[in-house]
Amino acid sequence: MCGIVGYIGPGDAKSIVISGLKRLEYRGYDSSGIAFIDDDSIIIKKKSGKVSSLDSVVKKDKIEGLCIGHTRWATHGLPNDLNAHPHFSMNKNLAVIHNGVIENYLTIKEGLVNRGYKFVSETDTEVLINLIQDVQTNEKTGLFKSIQLALSQVVGAYSIAVIDKKNSEKIVVAKKGSPLIIGVGNNENFIASDPAPFLNYTKNVIYLKDNEIAEVSASEIKIKNIKNKSKRPYIEKLNIELEAIEKGNYETFMLKEIYEQPKAIVETLRGRISSDFKRTRLRGLNENIDFLKNVKKIIIIACGTSWHAGLVGEYLIEGIARIPVEVEYASEFLYRDPLISTNDMVIAISQSGETADTLSALKLAKQRGAFVYGICNVVGSSIARSAGVGTYTHAGPEIGVASTKSFTSQVTVLILIALYLNTLKERNSSIKITELTKELVQISDKMSRTIDDINDKIIKISELYKDAKNFLYLGRGISFPVALEGALKLKEISYIHAEGYPAAEMKHGPIALIDKNMPTVIIATNKSNYEKVLINAEEIKARSGKLIAIVNKNDKQMSKIADHVIEIAETNNFLSPLITTLPLQLLSYHIAKMRGCNVDQPRNLAKSVTVE
Ligand code: AGP
Repeated sequence: MCGIVGYIGPGDAKSIVISGLKRLEYRGYDSSGIAFIDDDSIIIKKKSGKVSSLDSVVKKDKIEGLCIGHTRWATHGLPNDLNAHPHFSMNKNLAVIHNGVIENYLTIKEGLVNRGYKFVSETDTEVLINLIQDVQTNEKTGLFKSIQLALSQVVGAYSIAVIDKKNSEKIVVAKKGSPLIIGVGNNENFIASDPAPFLNYTKNVIYLKDNEIAEVSASEIKIKNIKNKSKRPYIEKLNIELEAIEKGNYETFMLKEIYEQPKAIVETLRGRISSDFKRTRLRGLNENIDFLKNVKKIIIIACGTSWHAGLVGEYLIEGIARIPVEVEYASEFLYRDPLISTNDMVIAISQSGETADTLSALKLAKQRGAFVYGICNVVGSSIARSAGVGTYTHAGPEIGVASTKSFTSQVTVLILIALYLNTLKERNSSIKITELTKELVQISDKMSRTIDDINDKIIKISELYKDAKNFLYLGRGISFPVALEGALKLKEISYIHAEGYPAAEMKHGPIALIDKNMPTVIIATNKSNYEKVLINAEEIKARSGKLIAIVNKNDKQMSKIADHVIEIAETNNFLSPLITTLPLQLLSYHIAKMRGCNVDQPRNLAKSVTVE
């Protein structure tokens, strides 16, 4: 979604901000813009479309000292030049960039209109900057104080950066519910909505907290909260290398991230399994051992791919630890007055840690007294901070909009949680924990081998089906959520309609769609339901459907039925999603590439969805 970047210091402000905006492109956006001060006036340049279009508009500008930039993902008003950020205040003394949504903007706007304010855009952001101007004019306060007073009237989520033409020595930033990070340099400072734009300049960062406002100059950072209490800036060191956010030799981030999965899993497991494979160590769980011994129910809340990981988690935790699990879309959980007790554990899963629906659902669960646990990839993200306790997936930055390595690393954390909860009370003694754990430690090798073995075959299959209009994905048991994830991957990056279904459920409706033009991907790797899946496969072939089957190496029977088989390395049923998902990711990837789609930045999508 929207991205913020800013620079203040002696460096080349224009190129730092423009290249920073390019590093934020992965978040998904529809327009971009910058603001800077020249000859005591604020200049704003903005353009709908890609940052490269903005590039050409600012080619001749020399920008010194200070510059702020923004990539916008439309919420209020069309994605056009007018609605793009930055926005001026009516007197043109101030300019703002803003991520998030001002929920009460219409009420505020009405008051401002009555006081003679005119608006040129349809955005909530322009309302905010005029509110700041209004406070400044009426209260005769400086920029910092005016922002403090204005924000105390605002309902919603925001991270903002404001500049004042009368003071080119500072940028004022503020945050509530949407991330804002200050990169601390040597006589220069940076601001951004995530660290990617300034990673090649500094790794020293300050994560602004909710309701904090900071005045950032080249040499100093002063932080206060909205109630004017001073805060001591806490500088942390980022543990991310620049190459982690670059494509390297890969054609796209998505392909890089698919190939990175075996390594990501190793990072997820690092230090979390005892050398005798008998125990898993998760600090967040260890610290709450007494509660967990008596936990009655686990509710998993998430969106999109993270929700699919949650569904896999249901099979894992119920199967391995025998604790009842419910999995809910965070957005639905939030608005149905859910029944939560103080004996329940609520797990919020989110790659970005910024998904607004998941964050709000987590806050609700907390309010109602549940033990809240976060599984996030982005360190220091809002969900991680708000949960207070949880596990990082450590998959490394995921830049491609389509989640790949975040899914498999989330599933890995859920396996660890299930194993931990089992050993806590031996809740299911029929599970051979040591064997399962050993297999988990070795799974990354199997994942690597599988990717290498199947890629060429999947390219050939993709050629045959790249023009299909619809796809069906089927799986049973723990492979059902993998089927859902496969369908989501295909639709989001190739724009082909795809549906995931439990294989047996097909005959209750979707079977009507099957004909010679309808490809079905079926996952047939699990011994416990293999025979049943074969029957479902026969049902498809009996109606002339095209069948692509994901099978274990040396499979005999499915090969006789399916049009194509993709052989993967065999593993324990509980761990199978870590491997079965790989062919589905590659299939969607190659089909999308062959159709000429931008797989890293699919249309209309954003990497972190920070609005409800
Ligand atoms: C997955 O490919 C999508 N990009 C999307 O469904 C994503 O998983 C969802 O928006 C949740 O994001 P999160 O994990 O950052 O919370």
